Amino acid sequence: MEGIHEGGDAVVSTDEVTLTLSCFQPSVRTCMITVSGTVERRVIALRHRLFASQCQRPSAVQEVPLSTLNSPWNTSKSSPDLTTTMATKDPTNTKCSCNRLAFSLSGAFEHDHFEAFYRKAIQSVTAEDYEKIVAYRYKDDSLACLAGRLFLRQITKRLTGTPWHEVEFARTEKGKPYVTNPAGTTFGLNVTHQGDYAALATSCSEKVGVDVMRLDISRNNKTADEYINSMARSASAAELRQMRGQPTEAMKMTMFYRFWCLKEAVLKATGDGLLDDLSRYDFRVDTSDRYAPGCYVTSTTVLADGKLQNQWVFDESFVDRTHSIAVCRERKLPRTCMFAKDPEAKLFFSKVNFDFLLDGATVLNPLPNDAADDFDNFQKKLRKNF
Ligand SMILES: CC(C)(COP(=O)(O)OP(=O)(O)OC[C@H]1O[C@@H](n2cnc3c(N)ncnc32)[C@H](O)[C@@H]1OP(=O)(O)O)[C@@H](O)C(=O)NCCC(=O)NCCS
Repeated sequence: MEGIHEGGDAVVSTDEVTLTLSCFQPSVRTCMITVSGTVERRVIALRHRLFASQCQRPSAVQEVPLSTLNSPWNTSKSSPDLTTTMATKDPTNTKCSCNRLAFSLSGAFEHDHFEAFYRKAIQSVTAEDYEKIVAYRYKDDSLACLAGRLFLRQITKRLTGTPWHEVEFARTEKGKPYVTNPAGTTFGLNVTHQGDYAALATSCSEKVGVDVMRLDISRNNKTADEYINSMARSASAAELRQMRGQPTEAMKMTMFYRFWCLKEAVLKATGDGLLDDLSRYDFRVDTSDRYAPGCYVTSTTVLADGKLQNQWVFDESFVDRTHSIAVCRERKLPRTCMFAKDPEAKLFFSKVNFDFLLDGATVLNPLPNDAADDFDNFQKKLRKNF
């Protein structure tokens, strides 16, 4: 099979076989398989199937497999039964602090236990977060903001081992959240929400920014050139040329969103937020690198005021077919970081759901009637028209 190195080890005990699969993809996959009968023959068959299914380039996001556990959560009579599920394979990267995780809003809305999850979630954030979440007019924005807050707390809990209720955050003057308890953390974290996703990126060094963008090729019936003109003040001359020079409307819009995503990612890594003059960041993308769902592009560079900003690395990929995502991280990383060990390493976004976000969550914001009224209010909000 092209691009795959069949260097797997098989460790055989009485009735258990461990296959360590290695391939040219940076991540090494380990699978525990229980077999009975003729071990050798089964191993060979499984080996081929696993190589075929796991060593191909991911075309999009990898869904995290889930198993069912009983929930410790308070399920009063007024609240439907909530069966909390936890990932059997923990999606958190334990080799270093770099993580890429995404949460689908439509996936959450469609879940059979959405009400129970929502009611648990809205009580698992601080009262201050709650005020911001419920103030949104649209369900999508409210849920996305909620997921963002849960992402920050959940990943901090996982990376530091600090209980849910002890994790604390503060914000910079420009609004970037950072961990204050536990003190002295060295990893960076950032969330984004747009379209159907809330997403999180963490890094082994402090400065990291992430931006997700739904590729809306025909937004409000505007032409690509009209969109590009509306961004003209935020783009450099070279970026404008590159956007306008694309052969089709769809390609122009894709380039438009790509630059937008990149600008937001760097602004979020620095924590600057909105700048007066966004055109001072001048991105250079290599169009010979395929930029489409399934890609993982790291060749993009940025100049600020004409000078190459070599301290940043941009990881560009897609969460799904219609959502592109850019992570801006620092090039200089501790030796323990997967990207320091292997500069060619790729870390795609994995999808997680409420099971992951609420794992180990405890009540920070108790609400009357176990948040039943809050859920009714949430249901009265409108869905966004995508
Ligand atoms: C910070 C900023 C960059 C994020 O904007 P956004 O794309 O609307 O929002 P995202 O969904 O990607 O990120 C929001 C999250 O980023 C984090 N955030 C807030 N301020 C931040 C800052 N200064 N730096 C980094 N992260 C920040 C928060 O966690 C926030 O979540 P919250 O809404 O729950 O508080 C925004 O304040 C801003 O200034 N936007 C610029 C808009 C613009 O003109 N862009 C044009 C680019 S060409």
